[in-house]
Amino acid sequence: MDKIIYLDHAATSWPKPETVKEAMLQAMETAGANPGRGSHQMSVNASRVLFHTRRVIAKLFRIHNPNDIVLTSNTTMSLNLAITGILEPGDHVITTMMEHNSVRRPLEYLKSLGQIEVDYLPLTDEGQISMNMLENRIRPHTKLVAVTHSSNLLGSILPLKEISAVTRKHGIPLLVDAAQSAGVLHIDVEKMGIDLLAFPGHKGLLGPQGTGGLYIHPDLDVKPLIYGGTGSQSEAIGQPTVRPDRYESGTPNVVGYAGLTAGIEQVLSLSIDHIYEHEWSLSQYLIEGLEKVPGAHILGPRKGCPRSGLVSFNIENVDSADLAFRLDREYGIAVRSGFHCTPLAHESAGTLDRGAVRASFGVNSTEAEVSALLAAVHDLASRS
Ligand code: ALA
Repeated sequence: MDKIIYLDHAATSWPKPETVKEAMLQAMETAGANPGRGSHQMSVNASRVLFHTRRVIAKLFRIHNPNDIVLTSNTTMSLNLAITGILEPGDHVITTMMEHNSVRRPLEYLKSLGQIEVDYLPLTDEGQISMNMLENRIRPHTKLVAVTHSSNLLGSILPLKEISAVTRKHGIPLLVDAAQSAGVLHIDVEKMGIDLLAFPGHKGLLGPQGTGGLYIHPDLDVKPLIYGGTGSQSEAIGQPTVRPDRYESGTPNVVGYAGLTAGIEQVLSLSIDHIYEHEWSLSQYLIEGLEKVPGAHILGPRKGCPRSGLVSFNIENVDSADLAFRLDREYGIAVRSGFHCTPLAHESAGTLDRGAVRASFGVNSTEAEVSALLAAVHDLASRS
């Protein structure tokens, strides 16, 4: 493949660290068996891989018991497990207009069955919600509050401590979608009052695709999403009651989790502070440059305000899909365009008719890459 400037880390980070690739190769050679299903050495090695993955995730998110972490394929699967596992017919849910379809669609599906009611909190121009409105929308049958930590379109960051002060006061579980924040922002499930934390392995945690997880607070009773063999309590008709087995039926992606472990170790050694500062300063550099492009419209928090490492924008009279296509084909720059699976956020931002171009950064993104993007956008804008 020709050399590309990859600025699509909010979708999937790339390239992965060498240590991730090495860990995956090693797991394939030394832990390529079924974990928890045998006493032979290779099976034990596979179980050790999963044990180690849970340990590093627990360290990253300050989770007391690693067995409260369910390993999944991605954030979508984690969110589906949390949403369908918590809610019962007659329940009411509060969420926001910033959510990804991975939250909205399972909620709307349950709603279409006549089982639940859903309230979407509106957003300010900078992608925030009102705490008063959150509290005012709570009803006696509100059984879940589901919010993203950071918008995949706007980059805005929600104040989880303030939100959980409200949810804890009313005894309502708080589900957090950390798709854009895991590995980029500090997350401490205890201090932030998070009851369910859904996260991907393939974005900020630098692991491979097909990995992710869900933290479930020890006091929460969540129904499994998938039923089947776990290698434990095999004589019982029902799912095991112990965690994480209760939620992890089927042969897991051991090789993928070995890579994820190495990715998280890399994040821990770089430090979240360093990663956030690096990505934030690139976002500011891009915003400053875009402000000089005639007809540029930048979404999300103002310059100087906190945001995760992404910037979405439009250029007047240029279709966002066309702009992204030409950035790729003519300049070798990979960005995302379209609706980013979050139509209500576009409705709030006034971009439902055209979508937006999104550039997103990773730990190895550089100012030179952002300069190249800016030069290309200038060029395309002047030719429009
Ligand atoms: N949810 C991912 C994104 O925002 C795929 O691009």
